[in-house]
Amino acid sequence: MSIREQLEEIKQNGLRELENFADAKELDNIRVRYLGKKGELTAILKQMGKLSAEERPVIGQIANEVRQTLEAAVQKSLETLKEKEMALRLAKETVDVTLPGESKPLGGLHPLSIVQNELIDIFQSMGFDIVDGPEVETDYYCFEALNVPKDHPARDMQDTFYLGDNLLLRTQTSAAQARVMEKRTPPIRIVCPGRVYRADEVDATHSPVFHQMEGLVVDKGITMCDLKGCLEQFAHEIYGPETKVRFRPSFFPFTEPSVEVDVSCSECGGKGCRICKGTGWIEILGAGMVHPNVLRGCGIDPDVYSGFAFGIGLDRLTTTRYKISDIRLLFENDQRFLDQFQGR
Ligand code: PHE
Repeated sequence: MSIREQLEEIKQNGLRELENFADAKELDNIRVRYLGKKGELTAILKQMGKLSAEERPVIGQIANEVRQTLEAAVQKSLETLKEKEMALRLAKETVDVTLPGESKPLGGLHPLSIVQNELIDIFQSMGFDIVDGPEVETDYYCFEALNVPKDHPARDMQDTFYLGDNLLLRTQTSAAQARVMEKRTPPIRIVCPGRVYRADEVDATHSPVFHQMEGLVVDKGITMCDLKGCLEQFAHEIYGPETKVRFRPSFFPFTEPSVEVDVSCSECGGKGCRICKGTGWIEILGAGMVHPNVLRGCGIDPDVYSGFAFGIGLDRLTTTRYKISDIRLLFENDQRFLDQFQGR
């Protein structure tokens, strides 16, 4: 084959290959193979020395043309490649502004938290401090300091989860009372909200974990009138001013006298319905005048000071307030249930 023919062949082959390549790397390989220092065109030009003086400029010109053609073809292919890549990127990065947005669901407070916060507000406005007590409590603070020595029959009132001889899960927020009285000197005015535990079977109205809010007031000259006034005001704030409040005699080892407090059913106004089980009343708390033994045990002289205490059942308050038929709903974290309280 003559040099001229070889050049023509290189040109044709090169152009064909440049029409048909997969990616930038292959394009570069083609370029190097034809136009590189060790490429096919250079190899031909090295044979120029064998040509005659007349032939040399002619072939030289043809070789130049072939180089220019191939270079132009490489350039064109490069541009096509860039355009293709750009089109691909644009397609990939396209934002469809007509697509619906991704909505981020809003959280809300648990109904128990809503009620607890409301109670805290009410008692804070009456001058009470909020205190916290441990859920893992000693036998002493949960029972003994509250006038319930070991083997006292009153222990049967509450079925306790023991964690050892002297450690237990508190059965009542009353456990916070003695802790506060030991540390503070009267006047004392505190509420202590929190979780409590009893070994109860689970059903629609019982749960082994539930919530209370303890209240304690100790000062000179505190009487049952103060207790009644304070709890009546609380009941009216939470249930409305038309709500009736009833004090029934009761028994707690750490208060004397003791009462249980009912409010007229907010659902039926006292006529009797499903919520109040036909009685017209809903029991919301236990209370009483702090037993002198309890004051004395915490270093407070019962001849100088007196006080009252109360323990509000938060779960009952929550279920009656929102007409929740089963206490278990408060603990199962069913999103469909919780969503109903969003924004309250
Ligand atoms: N701790 C009692 C209970 O859980 C309630 C209570 C608190 C009663 C304070 C009197 C005074 O049943």
